[in-house]
Amino acid sequence: CETRVKLNTGAELPAVGLGTWQSLENDAYKAVLTALKTGYRHIDGAAIYCNEGEVGKAIRDSGVPRNEIFVTTKLWGTQQRTPQLALEQSLERLGLDYVDLYLIHWPIPLNPAQCEESGNYLTFPGLPNGKRDVDLDTWNFVKTWELMQELPATGKCKAVGVSNFSINNIKELLSSPGNKLVPAVNQIELHPLLPQVELVNFCKEKGIVVEAYSPLGGTGAAILKEPLVEELAKKYNIPAANLVVSWDVQRGVVVLPKSVTESRIISNLQTLTLAPEDVEKITNLSKEKGEKRTCAPDFSPFNTFA
Ligand code: A2P
Repeated sequence: CETRVKLNTGAELPAVGLGTWQSLENDAYKAVLTALKTGYRHIDGAAIYCNEGEVGKAIRDSGVPRNEIFVTTKLWGTQQRTPQLALEQSLERLGLDYVDLYLIHWPIPLNPAQCEESGNYLTFPGLPNGKRDVDLDTWNFVKTWELMQELPATGKCKAVGVSNFSINNIKELLSSPGNKLVPAVNQIELHPLLPQVELVNFCKEKGIVVEAYSPLGGTGAAILKEPLVEELAKKYNIPAANLVVSWDVQRGVVVLPKSVTESRIISNLQTLTLAPEDVEKITNLSKEKGEKRTCAPDFSPFNTFA
């Protein structure tokens, strides 16, 4: 896919990137290396995916010049008070001098206290009652964003943005007194059963690029089995994943299909132009079938979309 999307910083990124959530160890290394050797120039990662070492090594081993690759990583909740340190730690693991995009992974700070002794901040600290140990009394994403805004000036990331932010979260961020910068990106769960029409339109109005994670429905790729998706894929004579990726690109959404399978990685980069009425049909699918959220759906501290 040759389509590129422009950020509000002026930088451009390829509309299709490789997702790396749940790609572990050698699988992550091989997936990123395969992707870069077969034409991908956009890799999406995160500190909490616990694979930055492998992802970075594949980037360095690929032989593709660093300035031709768009690399994203994300700030985990336990480190929202110290984004500059967290970014430096990510770069150390990646073995890179900078990332192209650094995102607040979730709008919810997690309590770092349990991590302090071990020094391992890449966990989901929990409470005895099974709830996440959130840290909203003394910290919030507005304060985190104030610190994030300063990072591009360090040269360690080229742009900053957010992930899993609702319309209300973004409104709160933009109207806060310390706000100087519009996030470049909001990365969210988005697929044919969660088309996020309102949030996509809102972000477009504000100049925020939307990126889709779990674009195939996450592990198991359930979206590819939807009868409408199968029917339209047959009509265009393409794999169902290509139909879904093409639908994102046509909506102006950057899309991050994850795979560790060589043939799928190669195939997922192919897009084609769909008839506008077919784009519309896919966008409307959830109106009949109901929306389906796969990531942190019922877990209240992470359910920030209500
Ligand atoms: P695998 O990594 O084993 O190849 P999402 O991007 O929505 O998170 O979806 C990821 C899931 O979809 C993974 O289970 C991945 O499997 C699978 N997947 C990725 N690409 C394809 C494809 N082209 N066809 C079928 N399944 C795919």
